Amino acid sequence: MSPRIVVLISGNGSNLQAIIDAINSKTLNGQIVLVVSNKDSAYGLTRATQAEIPTLVFPLKPYKDLGKTRIEYDIDLAKKIKEYNPNLIVLAGWMHILSEEFLNLFKDINIINLHPALPNQFDGADSIKRAYEAFKKGEITKTGVMVHKVIPDVDKGEPLLIEEVSIFETDSLNDLETRIHTVEHRLIVQCVKKILDELNH
Ligand code: GRF
Repeated sequence: MSPRIVVLISGNGSNLQAIIDAINSKTLNGQIVLVVSNKDSAYGLTRATQAEIPTLVFPLKPYKDLGKTRIEYDIDLAKKIKEYNPNLIVLAGWMHILSEEFLNLFKDINIINLHPALPNQFDGADSIKRAYEAFKKGEITKTGVMVHKVIPDVDKGEPLLIEEVSIFETDSLNDLETRIHTVEHRLIVQCVKKILDELNH
């Protein structure tokens, strides 16, 4: 049986697509058994459906409306994911921080996150824009992409793969975003491959 992957997304899902493509081309020996989005408008859901992968929309708002906590949301989400018996959980643009309660329910498997910045630089949202602005102010000369293990602290777990990305004087923000996304699509596949290869041996 090939390893079972659950991918969590919140938006476009281009990194999900990179994983789907790598599975289809047999670069990756694994199967995506579920794609979860916290937003029903996420285009990544369409990508999953086109690839005949089951999807789950799991928004936070109904929990908030009922006065329930983030921890209750995380535990229910973890239970749903557990039904799919994953060997690996990939956060590919998932915009929620997962609590310790969620992570504790998956202590025996890897949970990884893709982040468009170097370790300890521009943690959290809008990292590419913040790096671009810092470059313009002369504060940094380069940025990067990392895939790291997920711990309760945002974008802080042990980095598994890191790649620097150049910024050029002539770059628009859009140029930098495009360059970073290209690196992300390669790095996320590389990291998933590394983990799956370890599982297969
Ligand atoms: C990526 O830049 C990822 O690093 C960040 O959110 C973005 C998601 O892009 N956490 P996509 O939905 O995979 O296209």
